[in-house]
Amino acid sequence: MNYIRAHLGLKLFLSYLALLLVGVSVIWIATQITTPRAYARHLAFMEQQMGAGFMNGQGQGQGPGRGMMADFYENFQASFNEALLIAVFSAAVIAVLVSWLLSRNIVSPVQAMMSASQRIAEGHYDERVKSQGVDEIAQLATRFNQMASQLEQVETMRRQLIGDVTHELRTPLTSIKGYMEGLVDGVVPANPETFNQIHREADRLSHLVDDLQELSRVEAKAYSLDVRSVSVSSLVQTTLKRLLPQATMKRITLRSNLPADLEPVLVDEDRIMQVLMNLTANAVQYTPEGGEVTLAAARQGNEIHISVKDNGVGIPREHLADIFTRFYRVDKSRSRNAGGGSGIGLTIARHIIEAHGGRIWAESLGDGRGSTFTFSLKIAA
Ligand SMILES: Nc1ncnc2c1ncn2[C@@H]1O[C@H](COP(=O)(O)OP(=O)(O)OP(=O)(O)O)[C@@H](O)[C@H]1O
Ligand SMILES: [Mg+2]
Repeated sequence: MNYIRAHLGLKLFLSYLALLLVGVSVIWIATQITTPRAYARHLAFMEQQMGAGFMNGQGQGQGPGRGMMADFYENFQASFNEALLIAVFSAAVIAVLVSWLLSRNIVSPVQAMMSASQRIAEGHYDERVKSQGVDEIAQLATRFNQMASQLEQVETMRRQLIGDVTHELRTPLTSIKGYMEGLVDGVVPANPETFNQIHREADRLSHLVDDLQELSRVEAKAYSLDVRSVSVSSLVQTTLKRLLPQATMKRITLRSNLPADLEPVLVDEDRIMQVLMNLTANAVQYTPEGGEVTLAAARQGNEIHISVKDNGVGIPREHLADIFTRFYRVDKSRSRNAGGGSGIGLTIARHIIEAHGGRIWAESLGDGRGSTFTFSLKIAA
């Protein structure tokens, strides 16, 4: 019984056989009930047709006439049973054939998926199954392959993330270790400058850890949006006010360009502030002294587009699509030397904007020709 339970092909065959037996039994019972009656009717009809003389002479149908009919009936029944037997036999052969064919079409793909899933579970994420046709089994195989490639992608991302994080942590750690060893050996002077340098590196580490925590939170969507109607102008003014000291230090002019009658947007204020601060801090960071950063907003259809434009170092066209990818930096040495950006800010910004149902993109005419970052938000109804 357990053997049958474990084999779909056998189950299919047995179900065909059961169906066949039921069919045959029904036909047999039906004929047993209906044929005698049909014969009796036929007999009565023949008696009528052949005339009383023929039947009378034989003693009112009790003689050879009745015997002939009974004989005829028995003959019919024997041949009927024989035909039924032949039919059962050929149907059983066909059932074997059909169940074998069907099980080959159903069981083999299922078995293939079973062994593929086993291989995937063992860590071979490149495993795929063949999918032929358009039926449910083929669709299942297609979905299975989609799932496998998604798993493969997640696994690649996981490996990449671990690699990236290790790389990012190693730099400040190596630096701190170097200073410490230098201090112990007396090669590095124990002065405030050294301590400040160590403090800066430790600071970078803790920033990185904070960023990573924030990134994992937004990537896992483990936060709720407190969505409200917010005025765009207040968002922009707050950002400018907060970044004024940083900009002044770099002699960068901050401007805003807002139409007077701009509709409010439907957003989580803190989250959008985080995005605006990120974009504007980037603009200030990647613009040389004496540059200009402008925050602008305008209505576009049912959305408000908010943009942060600078006339700084710009972004080469081939990097534009990648800068929203985590840890991606156009010029790794430049970011590191210029205060240690880790390449997470824009990834977080993209997640936040997408959680609001908006889009974010970057435009730049290329190296040294400034950049513009724009995102769209829904207008509060
Ligand atoms: N306004 C800009 N002008 C030129 N390049 C930019 C600008 N904004 C971002 N970039 C490029 O995009 C990269 C990614 O930006 P992102 O904000 O994600 O990381 P980061 O600034 O390097 O580090 P952090 O995670 O600390 O913000 C930057 O390293 C920089 O190369
Ligand atoms: Mg940044």
